[in-house]
Parts: sequence; C-alpha cells; structure tokens
Amino acid sequence: MASGSSLLPPQVPMELHIRNRKKLLESLHQHLSHSSRPLHGFVLLQGGEEHMRHDTDHVDLFRQESYFAYLFGVKEPGFYAAIDVANGETILFAPRLPDDYAVWLGEINQPSYFKEHYKVDKACFTNEIASVLEQRYQGSGTPLLFLLYGLNTDSNNFAKPAEFQGIDKFDKDLTTLHPLLTECRVIKTEMEIALIQYANDISSEAHIEVMRNVKVGMKEYQLESMFLHHTYMYGGCRHCSYTCICPTGENSAILHYGNAATPNDKTLEDGDIALLDMGAEYHFYGSDITCSFPVNGKFTSDQSLIYNAVLDAHNAVISEMKPGVSWVDMHILAEKVILESLKKGNILVGDVNDMLSARLGGIFMSHGLGHFLGIDTHDPGGYLKDLKRINEPGLKYLRTVRELQEGMVMTVEPGCYFNDSLLLPAMNSPQLSKFFNQKVINRFHGFGGVRIESALVVTATGCYNMTKCPREIHEVEAVMAGAPWPPKI
Ligand code: GLY
Ligand code: MN
Ligand code: MN
Repeated sequence: MASGSSLLPPQVPMELHIRNRKKLLESLHQHLSHSSRPLHGFVLLQGGEEHMRHDTDHVDLFRQESYFAYLFGVKEPGFYAAIDVANGETILFAPRLPDDYAVWLGEINQPSYFKEHYKVDKACFTNEIASVLEQRYQGSGTPLLFLLYGLNTDSNNFAKPAEFQGIDKFDKDLTTLHPLLTECRVIKTEMEIALIQYANDISSEAHIEVMRNVKVGMKEYQLESMFLHHTYMYGGCRHCSYTCICPTGENSAILHYGNAATPNDKTLEDGDIALLDMGAEYHFYGSDITCSFPVNGKFTSDQSLIYNAVLDAHNAVISEMKPGVSWVDMHILAEKVILESLKKGNILVGDVNDMLSARLGGIFMSHGLGHFLGIDTHDPGGYLKDLKRINEPGLKYLRTVRELQEGMVMTVEPGCYFNDSLLLPAMNSPQLSKFFNQKVINRFHGFGGVRIESALVVTATGCYNMTKCPREIHEVEAVMAGAPWPPKI
C-alpha cells in the first residue's frame, strides 16, 4: 500500500523510561542528602485503572496515568511499580488476570514477560506487593514508601497516592515525591524530545492534509476526521493529546470548541475562518498545534489583519525565547504586538502602554500564551515552589509564570478573538471603552478568532520550532491551492 506520509512510526526503546527513572533517582538522592535522610525505602506508584461507561460494560479505551507512563512506559491498566531508593532497582507488579481473559481480551502474560518487555529488574503480581517490599528490607526496619500525592495546577485535581492491601504496615512519605518527579518532567531528555518531535511531525503533516482538502460546504467534523485518519493511518497514533478543536466562522472565538455541547458540526461557509487546534499522541508523548486559515483559501483584508497580528506576536515571542526569559514577559510581549496591530488597523485607539496597563490585552487574547508540553498536553510543573497565579485578565490563565530553562518544551499560542461575552462588557466599561473604535470593531462582530500554535524546545542559546506548518499568508494560500510543503526550492 502506498503511504500518504513520508514518516514511519518509530520503535520506542525502553531506555527512555530507564533514563527517566535515573533522573528521578538522582534528584531524590540529592534531596535526601540535603536533609541528611537515609536512602531507605521505595518510590511506589499505582498505574491507571480501566473505566467502564457509567453503569454499562462498555470499557473506555485505556490510556496510562501520566507519571506512571513517564517512569515505566507500561501501556496496560492495573499495574503498580516500585523503585528501590538505595539502588534504583525496579519492580513491576502486574494484575492477576482471570482465565477467560485469554478468551475475550488476549494472551495472559506472566511477570517474566513484563520483566523482559519493560526492561525492569523484577516483576511480580499485585497481590504480592507488601510481601515483596518487606522481604527486601528484612532485618533492617520498615521500608519507607514515597507515594505520589500533589496538586495538578491546571485541573486543581490531586494525584492519587498508591493504595494496596497491606500498605498499613509501611511508613509513608506523601510530600517528597510529587514536586521532584514533576520537576523531572519539566526538563525533557533528548529521547523525550525525539518522541514529541515525531508527534509534531505527523500532526503537522495531518494539518497540511486538512488544509489541502478543506472545501466550503463541508462539516467541521470532516476536518477533524481527516486529521484523525492521517495521524492514525500513517502515524500509528491511536490517541490524540486532546479532543480536536475545529471551529469555523464565529465559533472560532470559542477557545475549547469541539466539546460535547459544540461537537464540530457546523457547515463551512464561504468567508469563514477556520481555527483548527489538533494534536496527535504517540507512545504517551503529545503535540499541540493550531493552524488558522480561510476555508475558501483566500484571506480577506480583515482576516489578513488579524492573522498577521497573531503571527507577528507568535514570531516576536519565538525570537526572544531563551533560558532566563520570563514567560509572563513573553505573554505581555504577545499582547503588545497584537494591540499595536489592532491600533494600526484602526480597531483600537490610544496609547498601547495604557492599553496594557488597563489589561485590554486579556479581552482579545483571553488565555495564557502557552504551556509545557509532554506526556500531558498541559504538562505539569507550571507553579512549583509556591509560585502564584497573577489574578488579572488574561494573565490569570497562564499555565506557568516560570523563567525558561534549556530542555523545556513550550507551546507558543497567541490568539486574537472577538467574543461578545468579553467584548461587550469591555466596550461599555468606563476604563476600557475609550480604546475602542466602535464603528470599526462592529465590522468584526461574528468574525470569530485566530490562533497560531507551535511547540518550541528551549535550547542553551534560544529555541527551536518543532512544528512545521505553513505560517505566512502566502504560504498558507499556496498550500491550500496545492503547492508542495515544504516548498520546492
Ligand atoms: N489544545 C489546547 C491548548 O492549546 O492548550
Ligand atoms: Mn496549547
Ligand atoms: Mn492547542
């Protein structure tokens, strides 16, 4: 069969997860030596469990819990794993499966299979956790269990510490592991970056495929479907990093459109802008890409104005990104570039610095500039070490306020939206109404919005763009008209 892609789904060596564990162990050793605590006990994690749909026997497709995936790469549900803090030895605990599993679900693998497959030191069954851990410490006291418990600052949910029969016999530490392991995930290894690059490559290619095939009269879900087909058929990506966001026309002002209440089902009309935010996941690592373009293939002057405002912000941020740069400053830079363009386009009037102080930027870019990307689309670690959110329009949605460091993978996703729920109160507000050219802005009623989103790796001296989509207006129009991408020189 001829492939519709130049890419091949890569083999993923378990070495990637061995390195992740090594990184955690080094960090844990350093932490324990600072507090003069002994290297005694186990890191113990419980993997994710399968869920059924409400009260039925329909099983939702399982995807591993992210911290467990990071350390062990295990794709099946119902596992536990322990790492001996003293020497890094890793023990996997597999669930005992009923005999009829082999009839309905597939071969029943023994622990020896999992030991070999996941390249760990030992594998046992989950009902042996207490006895195996105790045995390893016979005669030298009760082993301490470092359990994963802590806040995810995007969802406000807490990681669930492992529970198993016999856990009461052990001493437990619920505070040490979460911040250390989260920080390990913030700075990516080369092997992790290679996987995120693959997810980006196949997703970039799929976005281009959609651009080439979009037509007025289609449904938004057909754009979603083309993306899913390409990333699964040619990329081996069974999961997406998040539900596809495929708004067109006015809907493109809704940041996370495509949910159950807005199921990507509008018909594409001539003159609509499309904002497609779609990213595939491969071996747990994800991508997060947004392309915006007119569904008829030709930008109007108003669409060009807003698109270039966002593209200039995207490019300005990327040209500033390097270690030590504050993400809050980058957010404000993006706002500034967008506000300047809106002023040039006669939509806004007044001094741009006054607009920034009045937080007008948050009316048009009503989300944070970007976030860490990795095993989770919104990868954790944005507010470690008591960092606090800034409670102001736009800035309060920042998923991190940290300074950039080498090895971080960030999305840069400025946007400019005309959403009445924010615009109408702003246009009537005593502080903000003076900035609006009311006559011109009325022209943008129903325009929707534009977002441009790429993934960037922070390097020692700058950054590198992992996303390979056409961005300039002439490039987007050429690709939509059938030109090759990347362009032939
Ligand atoms: N796709 C969700 C986001 O851009 O953060
Ligand atoms: Mn994003
Ligand atoms: Mn996105």
